[in-house]
Amino acid sequence: MNITVTPIAGAIGAEVSGVNVADDLPECTIAAIRQALLDHCVIFFRDQTLDVDRHKAFTRRFGELFVHPNFQLGPGQENPEIVYVRREPGDGRVLGQGWHADTTMMATPPMGAILYAIETPAVGGDTLFANQYLAYDALSDGMKAMLAPLRAVHNDTRIAGPNSGLNAQRASQVRADDNWRPTENLHPVVGVHPETGRKHLFLNGIYVHRFEGMSVAESQPLLDYLYAHAVRPEFTCRFRWHPGSIAFWDNRCTLHNAIHDSHDTVRHMQRTQIS
Ligand code: SIN
Repeated sequence: MNITVTPIAGAIGAEVSGVNVADDLPECTIAAIRQALLDHCVIFFRDQTLDVDRHKAFTRRFGELFVHPNFQLGPGQENPEIVYVRREPGDGRVLGQGWHADTTMMATPPMGAILYAIETPAVGGDTLFANQYLAYDALSDGMKAMLAPLRAVHNDTRIAGPNSGLNAQRASQVRADDNWRPTENLHPVVGVHPETGRKHLFLNGIYVHRFEGMSVAESQPLLDYLYAHAVRPEFTCRFRWHPGSIAFWDNRCTLHNAIHDSHDTVRHMQRTQIS
């Protein structure tokens, strides 16, 4: 198989061509895809056709399927490993809006996600990605030293549960029942990627509430600085979707942001995550 990997921006992101991900791919092709992911942090495929089974099968080549606890909506749900990211005309918010890494309230957040576009608007609904190795590297030595011992408190109270209010605003529904309980865990502010060994920032404004041992008020000014720094334009790329497009991101060293700018259209995607 003749795989080509073509960067789409200077900082992050590459398009992978010459591969049909629905095929039973040989191990050497999977290794080449994994290397492209490690090199570029997010990789894209075009013109693919994935039903749920093939989507899960491709995902399993990179690790175990992750089941997202906040999207388990009860009886009638056939595929607990699939999250449908759905935008309907008139939605006030969309799943994935705002810079974040996925599901970081977990003790071991998923290593990656594979998002497949089923229906996309003619224009709008792009996704932004930001390289968190570059964000870390660009900090001063003084800031790096200050962040080195810090851990951050991550929880999911802003985006799930009865108080989040999200289900009234968007088609993608999340658990909001009275039995729902928040999940909270601590993670180092500076992560070390287990495969590349590189340091990266690991903070995001959706899940992080404060630094360990500090109040919200004490934490917020530094968090605000780091959130703005982490997504400087020169650390980012922007992906334009078409039906059949796939984005596969490394959730350990990237942030992403689904842009909510296609208000009167349908955008329908299918997502798996890798434990
Ligand atoms: C997500 O955050 O997983 C969704 C991203 C998108 O829909 O672009």
